[in-house]
Amino acid sequence: MGAQLLVPFAVAYVVLCCCCCSSSTEEVTTKEDSGVSAVGDPGMERDGLRVGFEAWNFCNEVGKEEAPSMGSPRAADCFDLSSQRKGAEEELTLNHKVTEADNKLGVGKVFPGLSPKALNNPDLYAAEKELYLGSLCEVAEDTTTTPKKPWQFWMIMLKNGNFDTKSGLCPENGKKVPPFSSPGRFPCFGDGCMNQPLLHHQPTSLSTNGTMKGGFNGTYDHLATSGGISYFEVIWEKKVGVGSWVFSHKLKTTKLYPWLMLYLRADATKGLSGGYHYDTRGMLKTLPESPNFKVRVRLDVKNGGGPKSQFYLIDIGSCWKNNGAPCDGDVLTDVTRYSEMIINPQTPAWCSPSGLGNCPLFHITPNNTKIYRNDTAHFPYSAYHYYCGPGNAQYLEKPYSTCDPYSNPQAQELVQLLPHPIWAEYGYPTKQGDGWIGDARTWELDVGGLSSRLYFYQDPGTTPARRIWTSLDVGTEIFVSDKDEVAEWTLSEFDVILTSQTT
Ligand SMILES: *[C@@H]1O[C@H](CO)[C@@H](O)[C@H](O)[C@H]1NC(C)=O
Ligand SMILES: *[C@@H]1O[C@H](CO)[C@@H](O)[C@H](O)[C@H]1NC(C)=O
Ligand SMILES: *[C@@H]1O[C@H](CO)[C@@H](O)[C@H](O)[C@H]1NC(C)=O
Ligand SMILES: *[C@@H]1O[C@H](CO)[C@@H](O)[C@H](O)[C@H]1NC(C)=O
Repeated sequence: MGAQLLVPFAVAYVVLCCCCCSSSTEEVTTKEDSGVSAVGDPGMERDGLRVGFEAWNFCNEVGKEEAPSMGSPRAADCFDLSSQRKGAEEELTLNHKVTEADNKLGVGKVFPGLSPKALNNPDLYAAEKELYLGSLCEVAEDTTTTPKKPWQFWMIMLKNGNFDTKSGLCPENGKKVPPFSSPGRFPCFGDGCMNQPLLHHQPTSLSTNGTMKGGFNGTYDHLATSGGISYFEVIWEKKVGVGSWVFSHKLKTTKLYPWLMLYLRADATKGLSGGYHYDTRGMLKTLPESPNFKVRVRLDVKNGGGPKSQFYLIDIGSCWKNNGAPCDGDVLTDVTRYSEMIINPQTPAWCSPSGLGNCPLFHITPNNTKIYRNDTAHFPYSAYHYYCGPGNAQYLEKPYSTCDPYSNPQAQELVQLLPHPIWAEYGYPTKQGDGWIGDARTWELDVGGLSSRLYFYQDPGTTPARRIWTSLDVGTEIFVSDKDEVAEWTLSEFDVILTSQTT
């Protein structure tokens, strides 16, 4: 499990100057010019990386079964870096916390804390495996403060958009429904189209040049066919003691798997996270609440993934009921809420004066002026790709469209944005092409400010929900491509900064 590197002590002294007198290299990162960070690893600068992996089917479960000999689709790569003086040299060691046997745990195999009801249930097993991996990776920071705020990992999330309506696997707005036939409505090549991927793990190792590197990759295609197989890959790399981890992503769709999603998420460290109705583990040791937070992230898109690639800078997810109450795991009344800025310049605005049903009811300007969508002289139509209301909402104003009822464990609401001058105030992309290929940047997004002014549905006369976000993700959703497409990007320096402390 240990990977070791001997470096001349003088070099190690420079690299590890923050802790040259101790034998441990726990790093403390501080940023002078900012508020308190909500994540355990501000700016992704901690040498001892924490990264998790999860794969979801169309409704965010495992589904019928795990992939052959892969175990449950949850994995992690977590380690601490330690250093020891050896004469004139400094020895650096990576101490891994998760074994390959842990990563391969699958239904039928017991691990500490596993409940009997989950042992042979692939969905429950995956949820509990995430908690177990979280316990191995957990960093018990702030042990002196009350309450303690332990955190676990960044989460790589992979999702297969195939839906076999005859499988009976996905509920409709949270309600269990029998298998049905709906040819052409959802992609599926037939039996087994909702399968879980083959996953290969390259555990992080340290090379002689002082670089740490590891990754996850794999495919949905179980039988090795020549050419044209779906592919995903996330590789992380960092020089010891220097800067941020850089996560390089690659995602390839094919005819059999035309709808795939790959994100890097900062999820809640406990409770529910965006789109996930089980207890979760993650990186957000404090949950950010609108309007009081910002997100800093560096993004370099190298390959867009074609016209259907809805690349999100950034996607935020939460959950509250239509009466404004917080979610409690009751999938019939919980509603997942997402807002997503799509930066692919090939994404059109479906919201328009003649398509009011694809627009939110109103837009609120930074100076708090409310502009209704029927105010054709003022409403910024081209700032919205698509709005859809929760399928279980009783009082949506006509015309409206409701969101796909099957792709989340509960009903969902989506507010999808496009680059537009109206977002300038929040540091978001203001014109097509911003943040896209050839425009790598470090963004400081006033996600809290913007999300405090978005329209989200609520039943009339109910107290507005507190907008507390449990998932912040960057990545792409290649939404039913008609040909094989490849998206490639790197992400680094991810941080969530609380701009006014609430506790
Ligand atoms: C360091 O070495 C590794 C493995 O040989 C290589 O993949 C990586 O690109 C190198 N990095 C630098 C910065 O030289
Ligand atoms: C994943 O990467 C490994 C090398 O680390 C490679 O051998 C394997 O073929 C890759 N998997 C796929 C599906 O391409
Ligand atoms: C608010 O901003 C809009 C443009 O975004 C402007 O037309 C309007 O006059 C402003 N209203 C106030 C009260 O400042
Ligand atoms: C515009 O929409 C608002 C809210 O739905 C409504 O109150 C108002 O009457 C509408 N105005 C026109 C001119 O249709």
